[in-house]
Amino acid sequence: MKRLYIIFLFAILMAAAIFVWGYSYKESLREAYVPVEHINEHISIPSEEGVFLRSEYALEYEQMPIDIAHERNLNKYYKNRAFYGGPPTIPHEVSERSMGNKDCLKCHEHGGYVQKFNAYSPVTPHPEKINCRQCHVPQKTEQLFVASTWDKGVHPKIGNQALENSPPIIPHPIQLRENCMACHAGPSAPKEIRTTHPQRINCRQCHVINDKEQKDIGVFTRKSN
Ligand code: HEC
Ligand code: HEC
Ligand code: HEC
Ligand code: HEC
Repeated sequence: MKRLYIIFLFAILMAAAIFVWGYSYKESLREAYVPVEHINEHISIPSEEGVFLRSEYALEYEQMPIDIAHERNLNKYYKNRAFYGGPPTIPHEVSERSMGNKDCLKCHEHGGYVQKFNAYSPVTPHPEKINCRQCHVPQKTEQLFVASTWDKGVHPKIGNQALENSPPIIPHPIQLRENCMACHAGPSAPKEIRTTHPQRINCRQCHVINDKEQKDIGVFTRKSN
């Protein structure tokens, strides 16, 4: 009886050893598994990360037809801002109880045509700033009720190209404007600055920043001549 017991125990130990060895051998054959999303988290240069924020929609933007009847232009864009770079006022009615978040993002995160306002909603360049009405205030009136000497300041000009067909320089600072496609692509982009090539997602590969005015240096001649 005792001998049987020892043989039985031995068999169990053998089976366990075979199982453990087999399992670890099978595991060693599997390829090293590194979750893809963790690689992507660190792949872009932090200061340029925003450039790619809407890049997954690039091909959709490219295929969007242009709706000439509801285009925005730069005049309208500037008119709604108290100064260059200032937060635009809200030109439509808003629910008084809401600070923002989903109540605004449902239209402003991805844009799209809104029948009751007869316009495309501009895409917000900063969907992560959810307290919208901290900065954006509703318009109370369209009429000027008191004349003032308020100066809106100047905005940079577009069309600053070294050669006729070279990429224009980015005339504005890009702090809080890292997400290029929010303003430069899709039906709500002002028509003068809507890019013909939203599919080239790495915008800053070709467009360089310059917020200085370009000065003409005249005809260059070497002193010794
Ligand atoms: C039903 C969809 C909808 C909702 C909800 C909505 N908006 Fe709008 N919003 C629009 C549309 C469409 C326009 C463009 C109006 C136009 O061009 O006449 C617009 C324009 C704006 C503008 C002006 C942008 C510019 O460049 O001039 C701001 C700012 C704005 N909305 C902020 C908000 C905020 C803040 C909320 C939430 C309290 C909000 N919106 C909720 C559709 C919406
Ligand atoms: C910290 C202040 C601040 C907060 C919070 C904020 N914005 Fe803005 N927003 C701005 C400024 C400043 C601009 C102008 C950007 C520029 O011209 O560079 C702007 C621009 C916009 C534009 C115009 C884009 C265009 O193409 O004309 C829209 C739309 C907009 N914001 C929507 C929103 C929505 C929706 C929210 C909430 C989810 C929000 N904003 C939260 C400051 C803010
Ligand atoms: C808040 C909206 C907004 C965002 C975001 C934005 N831009 Fe602009 N961009 C404009 C406006 C408005 C103009 C016209 C000049 C001005 O007012 O600064 C312009 C002008 C330009 C021009 C000059 C176009 C021409 O025909 O000369 C280039 C190039 C440009 N932007 C590139 C970019 C790139 C690249 C990014 C992303 C890093 C970007 N923009 C982000 C609003 C924006
Ligand atoms: C491979 C280089 C390259 C990349 C990447 C690129 N652009 Fe351009 N872009 C150009 C050139 C070249 C022009 C001038 C086209 C012309 O004048 O015919 C231009 C012109 C523009 C203009 C002026 C209007 C127009 O379309 O002619 C805007 C606005 C603009 N680009 C924005 C962008 C934005 C936003 C991105 C990123 C989504 C981007 N570009 C990516 C090369 C590039």
